[in-house]
Amino acid sequence: MDVTAKKIVFVKTIQSLINIWKICKLSNLPYIILGEGSNVLFLENYEGIVIVNRIKGIKIQERQNIWLLHVFSGEKWHDLVKYTLRMGLFGLENLALVPGSVGSAAIQNIGAYGLELKNICEYVDIISLDNGKIIRFKKNLCNFSYRSSIFKKKYNYGYAIIAVGIKIQKNWKPIIFPSLLKSKKLLKISAYKIFNIVCQIRKKKLPNPKKLGNAGSFFKNPIITFKKAEKILSSYINVPHYIQYNGFIKISAAWLIEKYNFKNIQIGNAAIYKKQKLILINLKNANSKEILKLAKTIQKCILKKFEIYLEPEVDFINSSGKIKLL
Ligand code: EPU
Repeated sequence: MDVTAKKIVFVKTIQSLINIWKICKLSNLPYIILGEGSNVLFLENYEGIVIVNRIKGIKIQERQNIWLLHVFSGEKWHDLVKYTLRMGLFGLENLALVPGSVGSAAIQNIGAYGLELKNICEYVDIISLDNGKIIRFKKNLCNFSYRSSIFKKKYNYGYAIIAVGIKIQKNWKPIIFPSLLKSKKLLKISAYKIFNIVCQIRKKKLPNPKKLGNAGSFFKNPIITFKKAEKILSSYINVPHYIQYNGFIKISAAWLIEKYNFKNIQIGNAAIYKKQKLILINLKNANSKEILKLAKTIQKCILKKFEIYLEPEVDFINSSGKIKLL
């Protein structure tokens, strides 16, 4: 999006993060902390300060059965995955190439190919920017759920995530996902091979945000009642769906969009990505109104045809901060 902010500040230390926060507070300016900015849609020019978190560092501790990594929140997630593989620590490979930083990985509870951050997270450290105190949230206090955590709703003003504790089992076991089963090399599987396969799939299916503007999946996969799912499953064959622990059914939003058959829908320069229908793309200089209009059209049509509401996964930012839309 072609938008501006009053100022963009890159912070490399906790102290500079606190300093810039004090300036924002004293001058009554809105602020937003971003990692890579890969899951946000700026709707208009931002009237505050964008703080880009570049607080980096990885500390490794050895425990009896695990390696415990203390990773500062400004590390790029994919760099962490590559680093662990280089160190011979296996377990993050299914989450290769997920865009964003380590801090946002925790806020979002990123997930792909059978693994979610919550499965490997030990704790999340947040700092109170007012008094510099660090509060540790053990994993079970983080309220992790599908693409969500306590940090999505709370602790977003005056607090920042500064580090995430990642637990890596010494006794590595591959996490097998459907497209991996198709791999002929399954017998000789290794973490490196999974890493390569995941990278290949993602590169093939998902557009590179540096080349084609997008924020990954625009909507979440809806979680619906068994009764509602039954209706769809009985009308269509091969509906990708996943049974949840509470009996609800997660259904593929990309499939719903594909089944609707939007036929080359394009609003201004906003379009649906052909190879993965859950991704909305900026073909060239699209504005946020075009993206929102496209998203609303998709939402309305899916609701009408399947009686299913698609909840956005992307965060919307207006001139003063995050807002709830759609
Ligand atoms: N499908 C279609 N049409 C499409 C794309 C997919 O029918 O255009 C069907 C396929 O049959 C496939 C199924 O939908 O079996 C699932 O598709 P895919 O494996 O691409 O996963 P997804 O459910 O669409 C989720 C995450 C992705 C993550 C992948 C891989 C969400 C909202 N998205 O997508 O995460 O990479 O699984 O595990 O949960 C993101 O969050 O930004 C993101 C890209």
